Amino acid sequence: MVNSSPVLATLPPDLDSDRLPKHVAAIMDGNGRWARRQGMPRVMGHRRGVDALKDLLRCCKDWGIPALTVYAFSTENWRRPSHEVDFLMTLFEQVLRREMAEMMAENIRIRFVGNLEALPRSLQAEIARSMAETQQNQDVEFTIATNYGGRQEIVQACRAIAHQVKAGKLDPDDIDENIFEQHLYTWGLSHPDLLIRTSGEMRISNFLLWQMAYAEIYVTNTTWPDFDREQFHQALLDYQQRERRFGKVGKVL
Ligand code: IPE
Ligand code: IPE
Ligand code: MG
Repeated sequence: MVNSSPVLATLPPDLDSDRLPKHVAAIMDGNGRWARRQGMPRVMGHRRGVDALKDLLRCCKDWGIPALTVYAFSTENWRRPSHEVDFLMTLFEQVLRREMAEMMAENIRIRFVGNLEALPRSLQAEIARSMAETQQNQDVEFTIATNYGGRQEIVQACRAIAHQVKAGKLDPDDIDENIFEQHLYTWGLSHPDLLIRTSGEMRISNFLLWQMAYAEIYVTNTTWPDFDREQFHQALLDYQQRERRFGKVGKVL
């Protein structure tokens, strides 16, 4: 997989390898609009979106970016027509099954975050298998947010902490940011440095609300199926122009 894309197979020379984001998050938006523009049903955009995702994952490996988290299905996406939801659930399962051998060969660790218990049973089984089998892999931490909602994640963390307090295992005064983080789905992952959203929408749509506190946000008008290595290159160039201040005074002042 590493050498399968000859275009930009290695890190472009205008990028500084020491200042790459360690964790990139992506809101893969615009599949439906992409398909409609081609005169195809919306779901064909989801199918093509998988190809764009595979190439981005490969690119992270090729360019040395150790973590990629993508938004595949939000807690609000159940509101879509049932045929689209069913298509997506089936697609997730098919892709997982089809790509497992390659994930192993490429040393990619797969993790799913979200309320996974509400997903179809056969998908849950495939998810559990993929997470267990790739657990020791280390080249890229690949996280897929499925039936994920930032508010839901925060509420379930509060509930888990409340149970610990009730059981006498935790003193409320000991609750701090670190304890709270331990109850998030993403525990153990670094916070995203860069969030990319495709298709021009300037919103977070309930993605990684806690974790995104200091992420740099990059929005492109390109729809997700057209987001390729050159687009990613542009996003990284933009990221490397940013001054991340984390509340401190800027360098020029
Ligand atoms: C993103 O593309 C994929 C999912 C939400 C699953 P959309 O399906 O939201 O595409 P648009 O935004 O309607 O074009
Ligand atoms: C966000 O996209 C969710 C995913 C990409 C999975 P949406 O298309 O659902 O977001 P909104 O509805 O435009 O905010
Ligand atoms: Mg959308």
